[in-house]
Amino acid sequence: MKNTKVITTQKKAETIKTDLLVYCLTENKRKKSPPECDQSIKEFVKSAFDLGDFQGKASQELLIYPDLKSKIYKLHALRILLVGMGKIDSKSEIDVLCDQLRELGGKVAKVCEKTKAQTVTISVPIVDLLGPEKTTQCLAEGLLLGDYRFTKYKKTKKKDTDYTGLKTIQFVADRSAGAIRKGAKMGSVFANAACEARDMANEPGNGWTSKEFAEFAKSLAKIYDFKFTCIEKKEMIKLGMGGILAVNQGSSIPPRMVILEYTPPKKSETILLVGKGITFDSGGISIKPAAGMEEMKYDMCGGAAVLSAMQAIGEIKPNTRVVAIVPATDNMSGSSAVRPGDIIKHFNGVTSEIVNTDAEGRMILGDALSYGIQTYKPNAVVDIATLTGAVIIGLGHHHTGLISNHKNFAKLLISAGKDTGEPIWQLPLTTDYKKQIKSDVADIKNMGGRPGGTITAAAYLSNFVGNTPWAHLDIAGTAWNYTKKAYVPKGPSGIGVRTFINLICNWKNGRIK
Ligand code: BES
Ligand code: MN
Ligand code: ZN
Repeated sequence: MKNTKVITTQKKAETIKTDLLVYCLTENKRKKSPPECDQSIKEFVKSAFDLGDFQGKASQELLIYPDLKSKIYKLHALRILLVGMGKIDSKSEIDVLCDQLRELGGKVAKVCEKTKAQTVTISVPIVDLLGPEKTTQCLAEGLLLGDYRFTKYKKTKKKDTDYTGLKTIQFVADRSAGAIRKGAKMGSVFANAACEARDMANEPGNGWTSKEFAEFAKSLAKIYDFKFTCIEKKEMIKLGMGGILAVNQGSSIPPRMVILEYTPPKKSETILLVGKGITFDSGGISIKPAAGMEEMKYDMCGGAAVLSAMQAIGEIKPNTRVVAIVPATDNMSGSSAVRPGDIIKHFNGVTSEIVNTDAEGRMILGDALSYGIQTYKPNAVVDIATLTGAVIIGLGHHHTGLISNHKNFAKLLISAGKDTGEPIWQLPLTTDYKKQIKSDVADIKNMGGRPGGTITAAAYLSNFVGNTPWAHLDIAGTAWNYTKKAYVPKGPSGIGVRTFINLICNWKNGRIK
């Protein structure tokens, strides 16, 4: 993973030597005046305004090449970028503003790529509604998320001149130094965690298996002093984890249940995160069509999200205990693969008729959820999974689907998603849906037909959570091909990571009862 330095300074922006100096300007409420700005760039801004080229409207950009030898103005940056923020008034919504700033950061990252800038300096704008910390955090997130690229496997065609991304991001402001430092730090922690998840997801099925999941978790445990546990196949057999074992039957790579535990010094409530870690989903015997099957290397994005969130938890050290579990295996069709019609028994004793081996996510999650709840007794549990194609039909690529057994917990997640620009939409789960997965020969079956496919998948999971407040996030539509945003390059989005960090950092004991 790339290590971009993020620093802050109180020096005057115009004195800084940098490849690109960025000013974020708001449209002036008086239509006939140019945007307010620093004295050092006033001339440029006024000329551009008078020519009708720049008013500070949202998403306007203007690149300027100052004469560094000029005696009139004394700028030291090789390039200056003016970006518009539009009109910001007291009616603006906080979460919309935050995402505008992330987008702005993403756009700046694109200009950096175009100009091959290695150092970028941003003069932190004053956004009263957000305050300096949040403003800086969102800008930093946008820049780092927008500057993401995955080039690990591009070896022979790589040129020395290829742009490898930003080396340093610097925030300047002559006020609120502490808040700006904190915002820059939080922005980096949030974005780096999401980029970590993107890195894992970009790895192909032969580059990221259950073994790599375990190794990654182990390395986090070492850095942050988490408790690391990896349940191997033998242990799974002893424990009766029939779901993950069945999915793994057709594979030559052993399954692993990877667990990380963070415990804060003070006694606290526990949140359990469970992420689907199917490192490749061929569908098994109910094999998927060939077209687009390569995308099923992304079927581990849920697992990537929970382990990457743990990286941020290690950095931030919140006051809440967090346990992350990733049931990991690929779903293959080898000669001992599970067959349609087979009946399996999950960790909690629930038996299931496997009607379709391509509905494998719920099978591994069933074991992980019931094992996690029994072992760690969490106050709330959330699972995250690229679970159903149906969620793409229902919500497209713009919202993650949510299904929950607890009103308040669902609300908290929706709000965390809103805060972080990862919108979530709730779907209902009533007994009628649960009836769709009743089996004639076992307790339940792993498919409920096409109608309400996202909800019947969640109905399956509801058999493994008892009365524990639980929410399920279906990210099949958002884990990749996510909504077009400047800070989301094509490929995996890292969705869920920042939602989880936000949820956990805002957690207070007794918040959901
Ligand atoms: N991993 C897939 C879901 C998926 C599909 C994610 C497309 C992203 C894009 C999951 O394991 C799956 O195959 N689900 C089936 C369930 C069905 C057989 C009940 C589906 O959605 O078709
Ligand atoms: Mn599948
Ligand atoms: Zn799958």
